[in-house]
Amino acid sequence: MAFELPALPYAKDAFGDLISAETFDFHHGKHHNAYVVKANELVAADPALQGKSLVELIRSSKGGLFNQVGQIWNHTFYWLGLSPEPTKPSAELQAKIDEAFGSTDELIAKLQAEGVGHFGSGWAALVLENGKLAVKSYHDADTPVAYEGVQPLFILDVWEHAYYIDYRNARPVYAEKLLKNAINWDFVSQNLDGEGVSRADQPA
Ligand SMILES: [Fe+2]
Repeated sequence: MAFELPALPYAKDAFGDLISAETFDFHHGKHHNAYVVKANELVAADPALQGKSLVELIRSSKGGLFNQVGQIWNHTFYWLGLSPEPTKPSAELQAKIDEAFGSTDELIAKLQAEGVGHFGSGWAALVLENGKLAVKSYHDADTPVAYEGVQPLFILDVWEHAYYIDYRNARPVYAEKLLKNAINWDFVSQNLDGEGVSRADQPA
């Protein structure tokens, strides 16, 4: 069975100007889809790669295939981490945020700085590491899935293709607007169970 482009968990126009329907047409319909198409081509051409889930491929591949399967997972997790409706961290997550960063505003500022400061394409992420929250960034198609002991809670796409339609070249404005208005805190809170990796996985 081939990997699929997962459906968006909301309507393409649900975010209004924050993330336009046109951005979803390109970012989900063209960029994310291209990773799916290319990964399936690579897997179809090599029997040794067949029979592995998306996450198994991420953890066992390098180079060209890693880039495609990493980006399939990263984008799926990114879409799940966004919500057009306002949400709030659970009490458990809020306590961890306050312990690690002082407040949700401080966490958002740290995620924003990490994403804006990341040189070139990549991802800013909130992860759980050794039971504590941490902000990290990953370059190009790199992904928290590839690191043992790291449990992803949320990732923000800082590739230019995430913001060029709605924000032109203004990565800081894109990052600030999404982080302040579009995080799906219900999803982030749920991922404290350590099962975040599996939520964007696909079977072989
Ligand atoms: Fe992207």
